Amino acid sequence: MHFPRMPIEAESPEQLGYERVKFNLTESSVRDRSLGELGLDLSDLTLCYTDHFGRPDLRAAIAARAGGGLTGDNVLITAGASAALFIVAISLLDRSDHMIVARPNYATNIDTPRILGCEVDCLDLDFGQDFALDPDALAARIRPTTRLISLTTPHNPTGVAIPAETLARVIDIAERAGVHVLVDETYRDMSFVPPAPVAATLSDRAISVGSLSKSFGIPGARVGWITARDPALIHRFLCAKEQIGICGSVVDEAIAWRAYSQADTWLPANDARVRQAYERVAAWMAREPLLEWVPPGGGCVCFPRIRADAGVDAAAFHRILNDTYAAYVAPGHWFEQSDRFMRIGYGWPLAEELDGGLAAISASLRAAIGG
Ligand SMILES: Cc1ncc(COP(=O)(O)O)c(C=O)c1O
Repeated sequence: MHFPRMPIEAESPEQLGYERVKFNLTESSVRDRSLGELGLDLSDLTLCYTDHFGRPDLRAAIAARAGGGLTGDNVLITAGASAALFIVAISLLDRSDHMIVARPNYATNIDTPRILGCEVDCLDLDFGQDFALDPDALAARIRPTTRLISLTTPHNPTGVAIPAETLARVIDIAERAGVHVLVDETYRDMSFVPPAPVAATLSDRAISVGSLSKSFGIPGARVGWITARDPALIHRFLCAKEQIGICGSVVDEAIAWRAYSQADTWLPANDARVRQAYERVAAWMAREPLLEWVPPGGGCVCFPRIRADAGVDAAAFHRILNDTYAAYVAPGHWFEQSDRFMRIGYGWPLAEELDGGLAAISASLRAAIGG
């Protein structure tokens, strides 16, 4: 099995070198926090192997927030949502299987199934349809060999959220077909609209993935999770996790527990910050005639595109943005889209950096007219 490096990782600012980046609009999380901010002293922590499922108190708290009668037994802690997605894919998919995945998407959701060699059927979300998921189009793709439907909400890179009714329809389709539904809910704690229920609370066929990386601002503590109502699924995922790393990092899980136990104060304050940043982007979009967008319903990213009639050369735009302004966005090709699209992360930069980055985008667009 060969794992090609994904552009979203190879071209990420941490690989490029943060010192080259003045205006960082590539990030898909909120500002990273320090250990000191969490008020945590780890000097008494024994560096042992830990519970293979993950810390029981953390699992119980995640289940309680999910609701729907879930308990800690329905939660498996993983090394970030990325490991969770990997575990789900390798546990449920074989070469002879078919799976349906929304595109664009966070690359792992598409690439891991592809690398596993199964048939990956991309359900393209269309700008003209506000990137909305069409359950009828999804149902039409189900085959006898379909094993998995894979969705993300709020969505990366568009920020569009799947409404509760649409999610219910997808789950109904999956239940009738005997197919599992994976819902990547990494951005669930950053929603401008009331979020759909945690998918795993709705059906034995549904699997939810979450993370502390994005809304909690601690991606350096590699902690995410898988939630599923069906104990057989959790067992299957545990077996894969044990093959990869036996258990999680006791240090990361201690940090995660601290951050998660502050959720009731942290998340509302975070929401207010992200909303303010969103308002800045929305005000800029309203006065930027060369771009068009679908306003996000959550998360901290959006996915505007250069208008077709703007006369802007997309390659020149990105080159000028990077080389002249040291400003970075996530170009469309990170998501198998044209580079007329750009993902703008507005939750990570502070106000001044965000404004500087947006101004750099406007200037680069104009400099790239006519190539
Ligand atoms: C939709 C989505 N899922 C999963 C991940 C992986 O997050 P992590 O492994 O840091 O929890 C990301 C990161 O950007 C993401 O955007």
